[in-house]
Amino acid sequence: MKAKAMKIAEGVYWVGTLHWQTRTFHGFAINGTTYNCYLVFGQEKVALIDNVFEGMYPQLEARIKNAFMQEGRSEVKIDVFIQNHSEKDHSYCLAQTLEQFPEAEIYSTKNCENFLKGQYEELKDVEFNTVQTGDEISLGGKTFTFFEAQMLHWPDSMFTMLKEDGILFSNDAFGQHLCTSQRYAEELDLGLLTQAAQKYYANLVAFGSPSLRMKLDQYVELGLLDNTNMIAPCHGLIWKNPQTIIDLYTKWGTGVCKDKITIIYDTMHHATEKMAIQIAEGIMSEDVEVVMYYMENDTADDVVSDVLDSKAIAVGSPTMMNKAYPRIGNALLWLGCINYPATTSIKKALIFSSKGWGGGAIPKIQAELEEGGFEIFDTYEAVFTPTEDDLEECYNKGKQLAKAIKDN
Ligand code: FEO
Repeated sequence: MKAKAMKIAEGVYWVGTLHWQTRTFHGFAINGTTYNCYLVFGQEKVALIDNVFEGMYPQLEARIKNAFMQEGRSEVKIDVFIQNHSEKDHSYCLAQTLEQFPEAEIYSTKNCENFLKGQYEELKDVEFNTVQTGDEISLGGKTFTFFEAQMLHWPDSMFTMLKEDGILFSNDAFGQHLCTSQRYAEELDLGLLTQAAQKYYANLVAFGSPSLRMKLDQYVELGLLDNTNMIAPCHGLIWKNPQTIIDLYTKWGTGVCKDKITIIYDTMHHATEKMAIQIAEGIMSEDVEVVMYYMENDTADDVVSDVLDSKAIAVGSPTMMNKAYPRIGNALLWLGCINYPATTSIKKALIFSSKGWGGGAIPKIQAELEEGGFEIFDTYEAVFTPTEDDLEECYNKGKQLAKAIKDN
């Protein structure tokens, strides 16, 4: 196949692959993604930073050849492989690429070496050069400084800085699951980009927020931030203005939230739904933002993204067989996995339910939310179809919750 490489700096090319057709990743819904790799031409050596997912080798190979052609080099030869992370979307074709360039050296963290060898039989006997924060290698006029970035988002994660050009190759961190013909973030609508980056952060990075805070501090202390002109992640768009995404990550990683409440509900015969709508009206009466998710149609990966910058949630479920509705159970599991307290945000939670006879949903939802680090604000239960009094009570509870979070 043919595919063009994109020059992002003198001697530096994006040679990543576009996965237009994928609709899932890590079990969550996306609308395509990219697996970004970068080729750096030094005076003496050429380096490939990161690799691609299953089935993507022909596209990677075509872009590498095109980059060599653009550089006016007839011999395609890679001397150095840098693996910032071992997960399969960035390593599946590494062994295949190495077969083409068996003399090449590989650089990674020790964890990355171990994780790659744990995943790929073909790499078991391959020799690695393991590096730590502050280590450097030179390609001749192009120097890389390595920066260990544990838990952003795996224990093996690493950033690689190209010193002369101030380009930070950050692998998963600062990415977005977007597949577009544009390569630079600044070419896209900022709202769309922020939404994609927020969903990515919530689902993949939020639980590592303590590491994010520590690593950002360390990055600044080492003087690297001042020299960063561009952030080139392994998914989505490249940030020509790094401060945009640094500011967003700082906000999300330190629990900065809006006056916003996310309502998550499911319903059997529209009783719980009536309650959800009245709670939303009560919240809005205090001019607080509401986002509403009906779990018959919506997905938990979007829920956790909106909860990230909400000060509170309201969870509603009918009782079924003394428990919460199954789709609410799934949403609760995701909410618990994210570990929002890691961002330093303790969110309030209102729980509401409609029951027919014995009930049971509320205590089970409460137990799961408490385990996930939410602070229970209040609960409300109706019997069968909510009466006008029940609906008024739901309105009032929404209003009280909104008042409790405003300006706090
Ligand atoms: Fe994009 Fe952790 O892989």
